[in-house]
Amino acid sequence: MASEPVNVNEFQELARRALPKMYFDFYNGGAEDQHTLRENTEAFRRITFRPRVLVDVSRIDMSTTILGYPTSAPIMIAPTGMHKLAHPEGEVATARAAAACNTIMAMSFAADCTVEEVASSCNAIRFFQTYVCKRRDVTAVSVQRAERNGFKAIMLTVDTPRIGRREADIKNKSVTSLPILVKGVLTAEDAIKAMEVGVAGIVVSNHGARQLDYSPATITVLEEVVRAVGGKIPVLIDGGVRRGTDIFKALALGAQAVMIGRPVLYGLAAKGEYGVRRVIDMLKDELELTMALSGCPTVKDITRSHERSRQPEQQ
Ligand code: FNR
Repeated sequence: MASEPVNVNEFQELARRALPKMYFDFYNGGAEDQHTLRENTEAFRRITFRPRVLVDVSRIDMSTTILGYPTSAPIMIAPTGMHKLAHPEGEVATARAAAACNTIMAMSFAADCTVEEVASSCNAIRFFQTYVCKRRDVTAVSVQRAERNGFKAIMLTVDTPRIGRREADIKNKSVTSLPILVKGVLTAEDAIKAMEVGVAGIVVSNHGARQLDYSPATITVLEEVVRAVGGKIPVLIDGGVRRGTDIFKALALGAQAVMIGRPVLYGLAAKGEYGVRRVIDMLKDELELTMALSGCPTVKDITRSHERSRQPEQQ
């Protein structure tokens, strides 16, 4: 492989070479048999297009908004922990790359850098991801610190470990006035419950296949969630997005945007901030080309009719 990667997958190999095995395995791995890990990417490959050609695609506009915040493309950086394992600058480098690409970064509760360090390093639009910790005051303090430092939304990850009492926490906006996205929804039932407690958005996610093996690949359940939500709030998706065509497929099935997890870590490990920028720019370039070749000048033009009706096998 040439040292300058030509697609996002090639960054994985560069990261493997750049990192101690233990760190690479931590980033790369999934739960147990890693069935869901494989399926997250394979399920995208089973979807094929219905491209339209008699459309003026001389100008392609990928820009969109997420919770009202403008972004250059429907691509966000997913929250992943411990970026300093990949690069000494850690989340600061990732945030700078997000700013340079004009995209939104979700910063993990398990970040190595502080919210203050990230906030003062660049003007990227940032969301803050957290869990409902057993000690609720820990969650509250972290959320309020993020809010004070200009983070624009809270992404509450609910697939780790129990879900029971968390609805009450979402209802009790004692803690923050920021909009809350719930991350980790895989069914219509949970999407409806989340809406009932007033969340601002839903992230269809199986935690990058790191939690419950044999969970469905996220792209196979996106449409179910989108139908349940009925356009009332935005639905995002992550898990296995490695190509611009994957992003197009997710948008055609109703996602507002996708989030990227491991490829960002691989880019960071291989080439620091520049590597993260390259990962996002590659995905943007591929999405732009896919839109042009499918007859979609704007993201709003991407519809269900651009995919063949046979959906990836339901799991
Ligand atoms: C994650 N993910 C994650 N999610 C979250 O809500 N909080 C976190 O701290 C982390 N940490 C984390 C670390 C590592 C190393 C990985 C790979 C993932 C899950 C992440 O937000 C996202 O859901 C997936 O990474 C998306 O799948 P892909 O793009 O990695 O296939």
